[in-house]
Amino acid sequence: MTTDSKSKEKTMKELTVKVPATKAGEYKIEIGTDILGSVWSKIESQFGSVGKFVITDANVAKAGHLDKLLCGRDIPVYVISPGESSKNMNTLVSIVEAMENAYLGRDTVVIALGGGVVGDIAGFAAAIFKRGVRVVQIPTTTLAQADSAIGGKTGVDSSLSKNAFGCFWHPLAVYIDVATLKTLDDRQYRAGLVESVKHALIADEKYFEFLENNIDTILQRRTDVLEKIAEQNCRIKAAVVEADPTEKNQRRMLNYGHTIGHAIESASGFVLLHGEAVGIGIIAAGMIEIEMGLGDEKRLARIIKVLKALKVPVAIPANISKAAMVDVIKRDKKAINKWPRFVLIDRIGAVHRMEGQWAVEVKQDVVEKVLGKL
Ligand code: GLY
Repeated sequence: MTTDSKSKEKTMKELTVKVPATKAGEYKIEIGTDILGSVWSKIESQFGSVGKFVITDANVAKAGHLDKLLCGRDIPVYVISPGESSKNMNTLVSIVEAMENAYLGRDTVVIALGGGVVGDIAGFAAAIFKRGVRVVQIPTTTLAQADSAIGGKTGVDSSLSKNAFGCFWHPLAVYIDVATLKTLDDRQYRAGLVESVKHALIADEKYFEFLENNIDTILQRRTDVLEKIAEQNCRIKAAVVEADPTEKNQRRMLNYGHTIGHAIESASGFVLLHGEAVGIGIIAAGMIEIEMGLGDEKRLARIIKVLKALKVPVAIPANISKAAMVDVIKRDKKAINKWPRFVLIDRIGAVHRMEGQWAVEVKQDVVEKVLGKL
């Protein structure tokens, strides 16, 4: 991964992710404030006058981001209903048929403008449309800018589990305009920041200190701070994705807090937002670390303090049963013999590794004990 700062009409930071996504084997992530209005001409100069198709959601359109991106251009757009409940095969089929109705071919570029749901479904639609077309990601939420728009994970949910259908389909460019976060609903905004906490915990203690010391300005949505966060997140995630694009081993570290987090999210019937559930999952991981002699109360208290400052939940809601969570954990996609491995940390900024593995065995009774206490 390389980074260079450039001064353009609007200051923009540029990072490059090197994965086997293109012939050249890399794609660019551009980060800036109020850059959305200049993104379309960049897409035009990268891809030329081929067919384009934009996928977004009703909240993003209502916030004015779609108009800012298109600047009056006549481009086919598919607007989904906001939320996880849209991320399914029915929506996917409607998108693909809308692309057919727009007479689009294999030279099409799909542009995903929105949060995690839009990015995941648009990426998957691009992956399967006429055996695969190109996709550009323009994330507009704290969650998508930190995590889901980078690294090529795409998919939709089944009635039983998240991302049951999906594939890796890397974008050919990512544009992050942190000004789009200004219109994001407060709960979504705070929940998405948990992925930034996760990145700091697995890879960079200095970044964790930065988050600890800047919570107020982060919650005030100061764009200079948001650009710094975006850059740190992309730098950390890009390095991991470059090392292991299809999650054979090292990329699992990005699932810190997610195995139990997914279980809580799913057992809550998706009442909890992904980031909220992952925040509780991170605390569960911290408690497992204490049980296994890898961590202490002091470190966990520091992590909980940051999560509390973000005003995300720090305990499992009382109506979620331990049995329901354990059942979801057993169905985890990475489970072998119905029990997955867990990502744990040795210290803030360093993942615990055993025999070269980035996810390690944790006995079911240890997990159940922690779920019972949390
Ligand atoms: N969200 C975890 C990953 O992209 O691998």
